[in-house]
Amino acid sequence: MKTELSCEGSAKLRVPSASFSDPHHCEVFFNPDMEFNRTVSVAVMRAFAPKSVCDGMCALGARGMRYALEGGARKVVCVDANPAALVFANANIKLNKLKNVSAVEADINDFLDSHPLGFDFVEVDPFGSAVPFLESAAKAVKKGGMLSVTSTDLANLCAGKRVSAEKCRKDYAANPIRCDFSHELAARIFAGKVSSFGFKPVLVFYQGHYVKGFFVRGKKPKLGFVSYCPKCAARVTGKREKCACGFKTQVAGPLYLSDLCDKKFLAKVKGDARVAKLVGLLSGEIGFPPYFFDLHAVCDCYGLPGKAVATVLDKLRAKGFKAVRTHYCPNGIKTDADVKEVAAALR
Ligand SMILES: C[S@@+](CC[C@H](N)C(=O)[O-])C[C@H]1O[C@@H](n2cnc3c(N)ncnc32)[C@H](O)[C@@H]1O
Ligand SMILES: [Zn+2]
Repeated sequence: MKTELSCEGSAKLRVPSASFSDPHHCEVFFNPDMEFNRTVSVAVMRAFAPKSVCDGMCALGARGMRYALEGGARKVVCVDANPAALVFANANIKLNKLKNVSAVEADINDFLDSHPLGFDFVEVDPFGSAVPFLESAAKAVKKGGMLSVTSTDLANLCAGKRVSAEKCRKDYAANPIRCDFSHELAARIFAGKVSSFGFKPVLVFYQGHYVKGFFVRGKKPKLGFVSYCPKCAARVTGKREKCACGFKTQVAGPLYLSDLCDKKFLAKVKGDARVAKLVGLLSGEIGFPPYFFDLHAVCDCYGLPGKAVATVLDKLRAKGFKAVRTHYCPNGIKTDADVKEVAAALR
């Protein structure tokens, strides 16, 4: 396999050369496009300051290296089931002269099951859904520890065009719906599932093809529903059969209804300009209903021309509503106003 030397954050990484053209067909997986996901994870780790870390499903160890070099982790164990990945992970440990990082070839569930309460920080970064790994991961997190999960099955969580909602119902025991704010519903279905193992989210975000969440131990939350009317684009918290307009609504959930981020924790997360921008948007989203409005979708529904997001926010605020931008969508807003008020602000 042709390899090359790459850098990410403070880590030097030996990676398959094909990672930069076709990462999904490499014998050992490294996706340069997940750099931001890893960078946010490093920033969260610095804020949380764990001593022991399990980089579960480490592939060539990009996270593990960065967690030791930049995250301040004292001890990192990288785990992957692919023997070829372990060759790369061990080479990268040497390359970065890391004495506090080790690599283990194992099935992640077997490894975590044999390390109950074993780590302050457990990473789970699978291909697709993280659901099959949550039970073992949850058990391996020490009291007061953190669980870090990426799920790249966003299409299922959103009931995307080419997938059936059945997959989400099976994996998450939750109904997804396809609408303008599907990505937030996806993050909330995902957070609802992780929290059912006795965790609460401190930072959850969506990007591109994945949702990512950091969770600390907490009480099992009460999950709920969001109802959406495809005719008038109304959305409300709770289960409704019919919209006020008379049309049959679609119901998403059960899902996590409370805030997906913790304000105090967010204040500790420091990083580059991209991380700061994400944290700023996430902070602004706290205290809002569990959905947003994509202004393009509202314009389409009501036959309105587009308007600048800033103008709509100003108009809603002038009427006494709360309104902010959202990280889910550059043309999206979160507000406590209903769809009629949002449409009025677009006129
Ligand atoms: C998405 S990649 C991980 C990427 C890596 N964490 C990073 O940031 O570069 C998923 C990895 O999980 C590994 N894997 C899949 N099933 C596994 C299992 N049951 N136990 C351990 N590793 C597994 C694969 O070999 C692959 O390296
Ligand atoms: Zn309606």
